[in-house]
Amino acid sequence: MELITINLDLPQDSYAIHISHDWQGLESAIRTYLGNKVMLVTDENVKELFVHNVTSIISSMGCETTLAIIQAGENSKSLGTAESLYTQALNAKLDRSSSIIALGGGVVGDLAGFVASTYMRGINFIQIPTTLLAQVDSSVGGKVAVNHPLAKNIIGSFYQPKSVYININTLSTLPDRQFSTGMAELIKYGFIWDKEFLVWLENNIERLMKKEKDALAYAIQRCCTIKAEIVGQDEKEKGLRAILNFGHTVGHGLESITGYSQFTHGEAVALGMIYESLIALHMGLVDQSLVNLLIDLLKAAKLPTKIAGIDVESLIQAMSLDKKNKSGSIVFILPTDYGKVDIFNDVDQKLIYKVFK
Ligand code: GLY
Repeated sequence: MELITINLDLPQDSYAIHISHDWQGLESAIRTYLGNKVMLVTDENVKELFVHNVTSIISSMGCETTLAIIQAGENSKSLGTAESLYTQALNAKLDRSSSIIALGGGVVGDLAGFVASTYMRGINFIQIPTTLLAQVDSSVGGKVAVNHPLAKNIIGSFYQPKSVYININTLSTLPDRQFSTGMAELIKYGFIWDKEFLVWLENNIERLMKKEKDALAYAIQRCCTIKAEIVGQDEKEKGLRAILNFGHTVGHGLESITGYSQFTHGEAVALGMIYESLIALHMGLVDQSLVNLLIDLLKAAKLPTKIAGIDVESLIQAMSLDKKNKSGSIVFILPTDYGKVDIFNDVDQKLIYKVFK
């Protein structure tokens, strides 16, 4: 496989997303941005797998590396963990010419990016995502954040990485449930933007689930290209970028009312996409065949497609706290055709009850 490069063009801070199946292109992808010192942020699981490869490449470029290892899991996305990273950065004497690299999944990327965006008012940041979810979504586009005990991702900013390096070979050790969670975001791109990619997915989803390299490389580059196109048009989510949240209004609500412990993010988004498509079906925006295609793809990706016993009141209450909401009404991203969605803030509450009952 050749190294694929996708450019994310922005008025300021444009950068490249590199997709490869090994570490050979890493040096040239990050050399310009490292500076004299690097803090490599990773978690306990990733440490065992890839830290050796990445640190030896950084060291070979004459850079001093400090390794900061956080506990795996959402609880690490906190101001407390951020503070311990600031302490490690200060102890290692990182200055404005230094950089922070995130090596891991979404938690590592969001947290390390948040620290890079605030340490000394911002130092260079590089993403090396190692989960499918991070490779197709969270490592691209510059959303960095930590959680507050009352709300997820509520303390953060838009802070673009200088470079993103995706080695798809890292997916070979990813646990199946985590792989499926990334598949939810990957399938999302077909429904929000790209009818042709939906057709490709129908024909190739089994190959993806077998982690066939060519199929993965094609799908990841397709998702990153779509995300780069959307973020390139609307970096700060003034409008269009909100479509990346298809499935997330219901999904975030489900995660919140189940204490972030019952579903992975992708599982909640999968269910969210189904229920939001059912809302669209009841509004006459799409027909049953679109909902069926979505369900078939999610089933093939080993994602849940039904939930029982949802407390609709609590769900609506949780959805009313969504960051996308405006002037008190819940904002939904709903499909209007294959590969097309729109933003709605006037969905009838009775319809929401009907769909969940
Ligand atoms: N994950 C949604 C976004 O980056 O906008």
